[in-house]
Amino acid sequence: MRETMVLDAAGIKTPDASKARRLPEGWSAVKDRARMPHYTFTYNGPLTGTLRVPGDKSISHRALMFASLCVGTSRITGLLEGEDVLATAAAMRQLGARIERESDGVWRVDGVGLGGLLEPAQALDMGNSGTSTRLLMGLLASHGLTATFVGDASLSGRPMKRVIAPLSQMGAAFEPSRGGTLPLMLRGAQPPVPITYRLPVASAQVKSAVLLAGLNTPGTTSVIEPVPTRDHTERMLSAFGVEVEIAEEAGERVISVTGEADLSPCDVVVPGDPSSAAFFLVAALAVPGSDLVIENVGLNPTRAGIISVLREMGGAIEELNPREVGGEPVADLRVRHSALKGIDVDPALAPSMIDEFPVLFVAAALADGTTRTSGLEELRVKESDRLAAMAAALTSVGARVVELPDGLEIEGTSGDPLRGSANAAVETQLDHRIAMAMAVAGLASHDGVQIDDTAPIATSFPTFMELLQESSGR
Ligand code: S3P
Repeated sequence: MRETMVLDAAGIKTPDASKARRLPEGWSAVKDRARMPHYTFTYNGPLTGTLRVPGDKSISHRALMFASLCVGTSRITGLLEGEDVLATAAAMRQLGARIERESDGVWRVDGVGLGGLLEPAQALDMGNSGTSTRLLMGLLASHGLTATFVGDASLSGRPMKRVIAPLSQMGAAFEPSRGGTLPLMLRGAQPPVPITYRLPVASAQVKSAVLLAGLNTPGTTSVIEPVPTRDHTERMLSAFGVEVEIAEEAGERVISVTGEADLSPCDVVVPGDPSSAAFFLVAALAVPGSDLVIENVGLNPTRAGIISVLREMGGAIEELNPREVGGEPVADLRVRHSALKGIDVDPALAPSMIDEFPVLFVAAALADGTTRTSGLEELRVKESDRLAAMAAALTSVGARVVELPDGLEIEGTSGDPLRGSANAAVETQLDHRIAMAMAVAGLASHDGVQIDDTAPIATSFPTFMELLQESSGR
């Protein structure tokens, strides 16, 4: 039976809705996802055959948002039907768009037009999704309406000041919870003013929030990006007919949009998510005898850092049938079991593999020698503190890990299986990527790895368990 959990304004969970403290006016209670029972991932044979991972999460969010900003119908093929993206779909419906899944699995979006978004009658429930929250805060900041954002316990602990700061400069007003977190109330600027904003952290979410605010802001809004981050916003806005100017100034990227922009409906094909593929790449590299093809993986250079790092560690990963899907480079990846060696990971690669570190740490724990990572302070403010969570999780299954302020140092087993965790469950802390990374560790362990909750996996990869079962049980 699903247990109803309520998150109050202070982020306190109570299991009984009727006993929850009253929320401030305008804030609605959030149901937390029901927890799944403990689950143990164990060796189940080599990974072989062919599989397809679901659509890219970053691209799926953007496709729903941008299609909602058009007058007319857009169709999205290959949309990720994970909880985060469904939270975006629900929010865009509350803002006036008509969004439906057709019988062939294609999503149809009838947009309301830029500037035509409606004031939501209820709080926007962002679930676990930082991307939905920060991008929508940007979009709504330049619309003269009021909206409240709420989320689950993990999202309610994540920093929002990084978007509040530039969006306030554009004229929006915010009432966040103490510490600059959700629940948060936003009042859009009327009229918004354009800014030029240099990103203080390498974050595609912050970049995108400012650019999306710029769409409905008269004049030119620019973001200066000292370190390149994923560029799906820029690519997809262009596909929707927005003129996005990209200049290179003193080694920095300057991205500009001019409002008020006009978006034209567009049919989007979403490639497979490289962040999801990464779990299967490491699983196949780690489990002896594996030879697996992962089809249709997006290989945008701003996302593909994990592939070069795994290759540098000795991983046999081949790109087959390279092509373009929906304006993004894509290939099928053939990956075979390989003896991995420890390396020093270049911190400059971090933005292009920021979500892949949990599973990279698993690869490092099985490699020959030491892997050192640095420059990863941002991992502390993801769905969990991923440095602390992975250090604790890997240590509990027998890996040798030193946690540093900005990275992990991991001494690998030279290919021997990890001990595993038959008796105590690893804590995944509402973090889908901790859950999946430790599932992969379980495949290369003596006793298996028990994790406390598999429910968060549905955030980004609802078919993970099924694909794992299919590819390793052949
Ligand atoms: C995302 C950007 C990254 C990433 C997140 C998705 C995006 O976050 O971790 O999963 O779609 O723009 P930051 O921009 O905060 O690094």
